[in-house]
Amino acid sequence: MLLFTEGLSSQREIIAEIKTLFPSLFVVSTHSQERPEIHEFSDSTEAEPKNADLRLTFLRDIISRYGIKLIHAGKHTLWYEAHRDIIESLGVTLVTGVSDVEMFDIADSKIRFAQLMKQHQLPVVPSIEITSADQLEAELKSRPFGNDVLYCVKPVKGIYGMGFWKLSDDIPAARCFYDTDSRMVNTDVFLHAMKQSNDFKPLVLMPYLDGPERSVDMVVKQGVTIKAVARIKNGSYQSFEESGPAIDLAIACASILKADGIVNVQTRNAPDGSPVLLEINPRPSGGIGYLSHSGISLPGLFVQTYLDIKPAVSATDHLLPNIRVRPLTQAIIVQ
Ligand SMILES: Nc1ncnc2c1ncn2[C@@H]1O[C@H](COP(=O)(O)OP(=O)(O)O)[C@@H](O)[C@H]1O
Ligand SMILES: [Mg+2]
Repeated sequence: MLLFTEGLSSQREIIAEIKTLFPSLFVVSTHSQERPEIHEFSDSTEAEPKNADLRLTFLRDIISRYGIKLIHAGKHTLWYEAHRDIIESLGVTLVTGVSDVEMFDIADSKIRFAQLMKQHQLPVVPSIEITSADQLEAELKSRPFGNDVLYCVKPVKGIYGMGFWKLSDDIPAARCFYDTDSRMVNTDVFLHAMKQSNDFKPLVLMPYLDGPERSVDMVVKQGVTIKAVARIKNGSYQSFEESGPAIDLAIACASILKADGIVNVQTRNAPDGSPVLLEINPRPSGGIGYLSHSGISLPGLFVQTYLDIKPAVSATDHLLPNIRVRPLTQAIIVQ
């Protein structure tokens, strides 16, 4: 009855929680690669075609074979949005994280995202688009965010924090090679490397914000937030929050973008202590599963919001007090 198509690995925890809360709800999950850990708790698993041309026929077959009513599309958002009408004409509700292609493109570009949020008077990290190494050098010389701040960069289109670097004139040239976790690179070394590159990928230049950082997981239906929970990152621990300025900001952001499904908004605190937006990910975050210890079930609320099903959880459920969690890496047997 509920179909999860190819998605990120946190789909495993989402499906596990849904099956615990709604044991009789039939869950099918599909993926184009062998991902037994994702499918472990599903009732049935199917191999998705790698070729997008075969995807519609495949979906038609799965929908009719299992009587699917709701599809949560994990990846290939643009393809699903392009085929939304035809998929929904098969009698299913399609959830991709967004309501249209335009909003997906905006969420995909940190520059367009920052511009749109600013237009709507929402606080967002100050962002300058950099399209060449020479421009980066010139901007760093002119210090657009002031002299006393640390400058940092990330790709305009990025994921998993890859390509995020703090630029410092004062650190040893080789530090980035032996202390990668610090995400700190000598400015001249970075500029030199970028100048050697023939395929410069556009960057966002920003002031470094000290934090703390919040990752707000939320269930949203066509821009209307059903529930949002923030995870506050404190070193290797995370704690939870269900109200506050970061959550208000995430709710406003999701509304502007007409987010739809399980999505994630990230904020960081500016020097005055107020949160500013970093990005929206129109998909479940990698850390969504950590909430299973919080007393609030976003996967449960997702199912109840989109399927006509007897409620197992309530959007007015509250966080358990004083919970801190720490992520662990686990191994499972794969045959
Ligand atoms: N301006 C900033 N100040 C401090 N840290 C930042 C800033 N921008 C990004 N980061 C750090 O880099 C990480 C990745 O940035 P983010 O905008 O979430 O992009 P993505 O997750 O898509 O790579 C964030 O989680 C945050 O820790
Ligand atoms: Mg991020």
